Amino acid sequence: MSYSATPPEAGAAAVEHQDGKTRADYVLGHSERELERLARQGALFSDLTRDLLVCAGLRKGMQVLDIGCGVGDVSLIAADLVSGEGAIQGIDPAAEALAIAQARLDAHGKTWASFSQGTLESLEDCSRFDAVIGRFILVHLANPAEALSGLRSRLQAGAIMSFI
Ligand SMILES: C[S@@+](CC[C@H](N)C(=O)[O-])C[C@H]1O[C@@H](n2cnc3c(N)ncnc32)[C@H](O)[C@@H]1O
Repeated sequence: MSYSATPPEAGAAAVEHQDGKTRADYVLGHSERELERLARQGALFSDLTRDLLVCAGLRKGMQVLDIGCGVGDVSLIAADLVSGEGAIQGIDPAAEALAIAQARLDAHGKTWASFSQGTLESLEDCSRFDAVIGRFILVHLANPAEALSGLRSRLQAGAIMSFI
């Protein structure tokens, strides 16, 4: 994997980017209450998310990057779709969320999912991924169109981009 990511550290919700700047913390924060809200929201949107990922073309054996994975709800669905023949990599700036995501996926026996700290802006070469996905992340970016365009240029031809 080729992006600037560091192992999760407690309390670190912002990361230093390649340009040396550290972006402001995510506006909703990562309190225990917010992480619980994310899990409730995940349950509410689970079927819709699965349907959209299937329509987008996610299938068995794919290498998938889940950007802004939060506590791992989308990663969990994607892990089902790709099965153990594929792999899920989740990234998020929030160490607290990543720790929960990893514990949840481990508890489900989805050992082909792993998580690391990072942001969409810190991604470099993503050419090993067959699909890049994300849910409820674009609204939190300063310039979503620019971010998506930059992301596309780092993917292999034919890779899937699916953002909800
Ligand atoms: C509303 S939550 C959605 C979490 C998850 N995708 C879901 O649907 O349950 C948005 C997530 O995006 C993460 N985030 C915010 N800015 C980000 C960025 N620049 N790059 C990657 N993730 C970011 C936040 O830390 C937060 O966990």
